[in-house]
This record gives sequence, C-alpha cells and structure tokens, in this order.
Amino acid sequence: MNASNSHMVELRDVRKQFEEKTVLDGMSLEVERCDRLVIMGQSGSGKSTILRLILGILQPEAGSIFFKQFEITRLRRRKLQRVRQHIGMVYQYSALLSSRNVRDNVALPLEELTDKSSNEVEEIVDQKLDLVGMKEAKELMPAELSGGMRKRVSLARALVMEPELILFDEPSAGLDPVISSVIDELIINLTEKSKVTSIIVTHDMSSAFRIGTRMAMLYQGKIIEDAKPEQFKQSKNPVVAQFLSGSTEGPILEGSQDAIAKK
Ligand SMILES: Nc1ncnc2c1ncn2[C@@H]1O[C@H](COP(=O)(O)OP(=O)(O)OP(=O)(O)O)[C@@H](O)[C@H]1O
Ligand SMILES: [Mg+2]
Repeated sequence: MNASNSHMVELRDVRKQFEEKTVLDGMSLEVERCDRLVIMGQSGSGKSTILRLILGILQPEAGSIFFKQFEITRLRRRKLQRVRQHIGMVYQYSALLSSRNVRDNVALPLEELTDKSSNEVEEIVDQKLDLVGMKEAKELMPAELSGGMRKRVSLARALVMEPELILFDEPSAGLDPVISSVIDELIINLTEKSKVTSIIVTHDMSSAFRIGTRMAMLYQGKIIEDAKPEQFKQSKNPVVAQFLSGSTEGPILEGSQDAIAKK
C-alpha cells in the first residue's frame, strides 16, 4: 500500500504474458479522478487485459497496479473483494446470467455483497434500470433482449454498488448509432452527476471523441500516446495517425503483433 498515491488508477511498468506471448510489456498509465479515459488499440493488443488487471482478475508478471491507495497486486483475496466493490465493470459481451431475469441479474451484486433488505434492493434495482431506460424489461430473460438492451442491463448492474470507477469494455460494440449515443450520454452523465471515473475501451472513434476527456493508445504492449482529445487528434505518432484514419498504409499491420508475440 502506498498512502501517497493520489491517482484513481495507476499502472506502473506492467508486464503481462500468456505463456510465450507478451501482451503488455512495461506498460504505464495514470487515471485521475473524474477522467473518462478512452483506451484504443488494435484487436488483440491487450485492452481487455488491462481492465482485468485493474479488477485483479488477472495478475501481472511484473509491475504494480493501484486503485486509489490500494495496490491491487498485493491485496489478499478478502480485501481484494472488498476493494472491487468500488469498481463497476461492463463487459465486452455483457456477461449476464442467462438463467436469471433482468431484475435478478441487476440485484445480484446487492444480494451477494450487501445486507440490504429486499425492499431496498428492489428500490435500487428500479432506480438503476430506470436510469438506463430498462425498467419495463425487468421480468425478461437475457435471451429475450437485444444486444443494446443487454448492454444497458449490464450497465445498470455495474451501477448498483455506486462504484467510484467504472470500466467499460466496448460499450457500443454491436449497437446501432442511436443506442450507442444513449450509452455515451449515460457515461458522460455519470461522471458529471456522480463524480464517477471511467475507463472506456472502444474501437468506435466517434464515440471515443464524444465521451473521452483523455485518449490513450495501446500499441505493442505499451501506451504510445496519452493526451487530451484535441491533442490526440493531431498526434504526430504514425501509429495513432493511422489508427484514427483507419488507413491500411502505415506501421500497423507491418508485422506489428508478431514483434512482441515472439519476444
Ligand atoms: N486468458 C487468456 N489466456 C491466453 N491468452 C489470452 C488470455 N486473455 C487474453 N489472451 C491473449 O492476449 C491478447 C490480448 O487479448 P485482449 O482480450 O486483452 O485483447 P483486446 O485488445 O481486448 O482485443 P479486442 O479488441 O479484440 O477485444 C490476445 O492475443 C489474446 O489471445
Ligand atoms: Mg477486448
């Protein structure tokens, strides 16, 4: 633990590998309170891995990871579980329990982690479902929902514990532009009204520039650019420029992932 740590999240020289493959290679990143930090990068570059490391679901091979004053990598299981209650996660594939209806999915963290009465739970569930416009869908099963509805339920579930930090993995993937803007608005409102900090992984450039207060680009295991949106857009880094323009010409694809894959 490091009491002087004032960031909301900090990753310091993190290395993460899966067997032979090094995914993060001395990666560092700092997230301040109330930031909406967008992480961009190619498919397979390690964006979801970063979120799982922050949650303590994965352990790095080297480096340290802080959430506020807590060094996630050094917490014992019990303590980690308690700290994790302050972090909400909206998974890339929504990750709802298919055997439970919307209400039960959203209530789950409250039922498992708190001793709130069933009336209190009901009230919180209603409030969060209302926030994401899904109150009418309370009795539906996940299989009866569209992708956008699942995302919104998943967001409601991430909110029930009133987290200080929310991690979004591809919040607009597979959604139509209107629903995607609704989710973006929700993310912005949360930060502005409830002082929530968020880290958002996305491929969707228009969404990224709509929500981000900071942009970071992950490439070959490191953050190669980290700036305010206006500066990020004008980055001289050829990788960032190529990523923003979606061009096939540039350093990306020129053996990019193999370089660290071989290590
Ligand atoms: N549990 C795991 N076991 C083995 N390899 C893994 C595991 N999790 C991730 N990887 C590998 O690590 C790399 C990064 O994966 P990650 O899911 O973080 O990428 P990503 O940037 O989120 O990609 P996408 O944009 O496609 O979601 C990939 O090559 C993936 O195959
Ligand atoms: Mg991913």
